[in-house]
This record gives sequence, structure tokens and C-alpha cells, in this order.
Amino acid sequence: MERTFAIIKPDAVAASQTGEIIAIIEKSGLRIIGMKMRRLSQLEAEGFYAVHRERPFFPSLVKFMTEGPVVVMVLEAPGAIQRWRETMGATNPANAAEGTIRKRFAASIERNCVHGSDAPETAAVEIPFFFSTAELL
Ligand code: RTP
Ligand code: MG
Repeated sequence: MERTFAIIKPDAVAASQTGEIIAIIEKSGLRIIGMKMRRLSQLEAEGFYAVHRERPFFPSLVKFMTEGPVVVMVLEAPGAIQRWRETMGATNPANAAEGTIRKRFAASIERNCVHGSDAPETAAVEIPFFFSTAELL
């Protein structure tokens, strides 16, 4: 069994796509073992995306991720990290495969609806960033 960390980003929450995205997650065989709605502070968004802090898009990414509420989740399944990345689709919706969340809902490479951990080491940092052990069911 593997765990991954997911965010429904502010663009998708504002567009009332939360329910549809959760339905896609459940149908893809990922079990939701933790979920809550949060509004990220500037410090939280900067810390969460710290690996990108030297990238030109970093200030814009932080502004986007703090513009409204997000839904943070922990998902569990065999191969959950890869499965959730495939369900999300490519970072840029222009390159995302048919049927993926980003292909269906994302507006741009930045406003791309969802986040998913990209490796076990990343998931191991991202999950405890938002969830305590007692919150994972
Ligand atoms: P995420 O971390 O959010 O799951 O997305 P990802 O792995 O597919 O993409 P990553 O390279 O980690 O980038 C993180 C987020 O930064 C925004 N971004 N903007 N303007 C740009 O060129 C650009 N590139 C990336 C996106 O919101 C991306 O998901
Ligand atoms: Mg990433």
C-alpha cells in the first residue's frame, strides 16, 4: 500500500469542481484517508513549494495557491503516487491526455486544478505538512 498527497487547487474549488474531482478520485481506486478544506497562508504556500523558489513562476504560483480555499487530501492505494499523477494528467493541460482531470478542467500550466506528490520522498514530506497521524483514517 502507498500513500500520496493531493490538493484541489483554488481555481477548481472556486469553479465548484470539487465534487467532480473527488468522484474521479474515488472511481480511480484511490481511497481518501484524510481530507480537509484550508486557505493557505503565504508562508505555507512558500514552504510547500519551496523546491520551486528560484523559478520565475514562483511568486505567481504562491499568489495563485493563496487566492482562495483549497482541499487537501491523503490518498491510499497500491501505486497511489503514479496512479494519482496519471489521473491528474500533465502539468500543462495542453499536453494532458484525454480523460485526465487537467485536460478536462485546467485553464493553464499554472491554474491546473490539482496537485500530486511526484515521488515517495515528496509524499513523505507533503503528507505531514498538512496532516497529523491521528487525522489519517
Ligand atoms: P504539482 O506539483 O502542483 O502537482 O504540479 P506538477 O508536479 O505537475 O508541476 P511542478 O513542476 O511541480 O510545478 C508546480 C506547479 O507550479 C505551477 N507552474 N507554473 N508558469 C509555469 O510555467 C508553471 N510551471 C509550473 C503549476 O501550478 C504547477 O502545478
Ligand atoms: Mg510538482
